[in-house]
Amino acid sequence: MGSRQLRDSDRGCPTRPYAVGMPAHPAGPRHSDVIDIHGAPPRPLDTAELNHLDAAVWPTSARREPGGVVSVGGVDVVTAVREAGSPVVLLDQDQVRSAARGYARSYDATGTPTRVYYAGKAFLSTAVARWITDEGVDIDVCTGGELEVALRAGVTPDRILFHGNNKSEAELIRALEVGVGRYVIDSCLEIARLGALAQDAGVVADCLVRVTVGVEAHTHEFIATAHEDQKFGLALTDGSAREAARRVAALPSLNLVGLHSHIGSQIFDPAGFEVAARRLVGFAAELAAEGLSIRELNLGGGMGIAYTSADDPLDVADMAAAIVSIVRHECDRADLPLPLLCVEPGRAIIGQAGITVYTVGTIKAIDLGNGLTRTFVSVDGGMSDNIRTALYDAEYTVALANRESDAEPMLCRVVGKHCESGDIVVRDCWLPADLAPGDLLAVAATGAYCRSMASNYNQVPRPGVMGVQDGHLETVLRRETIDDLLSLDPGA
Ligand code: LLP
Repeated sequence: MGSRQLRDSDRGCPTRPYAVGMPAHPAGPRHSDVIDIHGAPPRPLDTAELNHLDAAVWPTSARREPGGVVSVGGVDVVTAVREAGSPVVLLDQDQVRSAARGYARSYDATGTPTRVYYAGKAFLSTAVARWITDEGVDIDVCTGGELEVALRAGVTPDRILFHGNNKSEAELIRALEVGVGRYVIDSCLEIARLGALAQDAGVVADCLVRVTVGVEAHTHEFIATAHEDQKFGLALTDGSAREAARRVAALPSLNLVGLHSHIGSQIFDPAGFEVAARRLVGFAAELAAEGLSIRELNLGGGMGIAYTSADDPLDVADMAAAIVSIVRHECDRADLPLPLLCVEPGRAIIGQAGITVYTVGTIKAIDLGNGLTRTFVSVDGGMSDNIRTALYDAEYTVALANRESDAEPMLCRVVGKHCESGDIVVRDCWLPADLAPGDLLAVAATGAYCRSMASNYNQVPRPGVMGVQDGHLETVLRRETIDDLLSLDPGA
């Protein structure tokens, strides 16, 4: 992958030696603190920092090989793009496995019965389901599609938990036919629907009631008031969770085994989980007083990961110990037997293991009008393979990946190829000023909720996902082709 050297005049107006908003300071980049651009990360102190891959953000196997090309799992990105096209998602198999194993072990180490489910919505394929279940983690699915992937992977149905606020009859019939292990009930209507279908099938379905505990958590904050005004779960406050538990228990074809709560995603503050755990145990005690015994508590997913060096995620083992000790304490107080404690991490298992590699197409410097310049770097994917920046203002870390550079940092925005000005992959970042078409950029921490939320906007085929391990590439999902897209169109 040769990168073509750009002339300054190719970058558009204005032409500058490097587009940081001003000519190189005679004393060098250390004086860059005079540049104050809202939202931009601090300007790298030197080129070593610009080329550096922070181990807290990148896959642990990521490194720069001699010559500077980035590799993950022993596979360099130039080879990966040659083999699998661009853009491509690389998933470090060892890292997915070790994150899953780490979760299972951290909860095991608490000395209480626990069960970890991987939230397949983060990213699911048969290979990933196998890696994860091999490591002792079960699978949470929330649609018939995710269920079929898990089944095709050979996951035993009793290791599958079925979520979803609108499971269709067809999805439930299929789940009952194969013998899915747990159903998370999300509405009273669903109780009647599942109850009737289970009766028809002549089976008893094990159910958890999804409770809205009045906690909403995002990253560094949580709010413990009323957050019942959303589509998921049954509220504690208006009695609908209690009513649902009673109805499940009353139907012979349903078995009330537990309660479920999911308070949010990308959470860095453990307090939200603690409040949720207390409220769930309190509710279990109320149900016990009515003779309804709760044997499982599922606290959902939500543990955050580092997308940038500024993020500081919770430690899984600390979190497991803290949650178990709260549940144990609350159960002792309420004189309840300790339930099986379940969690459902998605992002925390697969997020950091993935990177997306793009090829740079065009580069355009835009004068911001205040003496500053922002360089728009367009890549060959965008919001179709990573909607998170547009949807949640998510922040990402990006690096020049096919080589190192000793050029000065320039302030950039990495954008996609879609017809939408919000088509941004990385809003503010620093890249070397000698960046050129044909260079490869790698975006870190794209393992979760990127390929799984991908679209075909503008008829752009979705990227392939390649597993990498010990220098080998394995197709996890092949790259889509335009023929794949045309095959849906009978007139094409
Ligand atoms: N369990 C339930 C019931 C969930 O709804 C979710 C995520 C999880 C577990 C897994 O959460 P995690 O550990 O991955 O945070 N698309 C968003 C995230 C949506 C999460 C939806 N539910 C994003 O890209 O940030």
